[in-house]
Amino acid sequence: MKKLLVSFAAFLLFFSIALPANAAPKQIFPGAVWKDNRGQQIQAHGGGILHWKGAYYWVGEDRTPSNDPEKRYVSCYSSKDLVHWTFRGQILALSDPEHLGSHWVLERPKLFHNPRTGKFVLYFHLDDARYKLARVGVAVSDRIAGPYAYVKSFRPLDQESRDIGQFIDDDGSAYLIFESRPTHGFFIAQLSDDYMSVEKQVSFIRAPLEGGAVVHYNGLYYALGSHMTGWRPNPNVYATAPSLSGPWTEFKDIAPPEANTYQAQSAMLLKVTGSKATSVLFMGDIWKPGTLWDSRYLWMPAQIDNGEFHLPVPSPWLINLKSGITTIEPAANPSQQ
Ligand code: GAL
Repeated sequence: MKKLLVSFAAFLLFFSIALPANAAPKQIFPGAVWKDNRGQQIQAHGGGILHWKGAYYWVGEDRTPSNDPEKRYVSCYSSKDLVHWTFRGQILALSDPEHLGSHWVLERPKLFHNPRTGKFVLYFHLDDARYKLARVGVAVSDRIAGPYAYVKSFRPLDQESRDIGQFIDDDGSAYLIFESRPTHGFFIAQLSDDYMSVEKQVSFIRAPLEGGAVVHYNGLYYALGSHMTGWRPNPNVYATAPSLSGPWTEFKDIAPPEANTYQAQSAMLLKVTGSKATSVLFMGDIWKPGTLWDSRYLWMPAQIDNGEFHLPVPSPWLINLKSGITTIEPAANPSQQ
């Protein structure tokens, strides 16, 4: 326990120092300021990742302070190594689409590519200031970096939907994960053929969890989420099932509960399959509610063994995308990179 606290304190101290602008790190530094190719802090909060044609596309909430306060923004970044990200633009700059009033909400955007229509389909949580609307919004583009045109909003499967997540199975089928407060749990539902609607309930997991994420690894499905404490971190948990439709085990902690997920909240699980190994990456947000634009990302390779999912203490790490092998390194001085 003491050891854990000491290494976590070292982590906090280490990552309070920003990476210098000219550093070209090979590693991912969880919790550090993460800059794009322009030297600007990446704005992809509550995000999602689409792997398409050999590159990764990261979309998320763009909370840049100079944004028009009447609009809500989604930004997109691309990368071939998951470390260096090229800004591809604000792919959505949306004015209040449903007369939601001031302080309306667009959160947790997730991007899908539909192989049948060729279109890129962006889902996001759409809400009013009091989070009563509880719908998903959908926007579409012919090009991955947009611009995206707003199409509609709805309640998936006629259920209230707040935090959303995405999951693409190995056979390419696409699912939306959404939290439904009245039913005290979250749904995993398959998208329609054109991805423009949510068609079929595959699983309902009776556990009131947000930030839902799913990965299929080594014959097991892992569903992960956070408890409902708003922007405040809490011990995130996971369950497993032999099939996406269950039966799901009880939920267990992904890290020692006193670590509070190292101040992060789950957003996405990404599977990277290489020639030698398959790695599962935990992608979370370290929210700063007063300065949301300065919220950080906590990405770490998960340690999965025999159906047990473990989030290690944050430390710089590397991934070799060809082999799929991740290496967690002891904290080093980032200015020496
Ligand atoms: C969190 C949720 C975030 C945001 C926040 C608002 O629980 O995961 O996406 O909605 O609450 O308080």
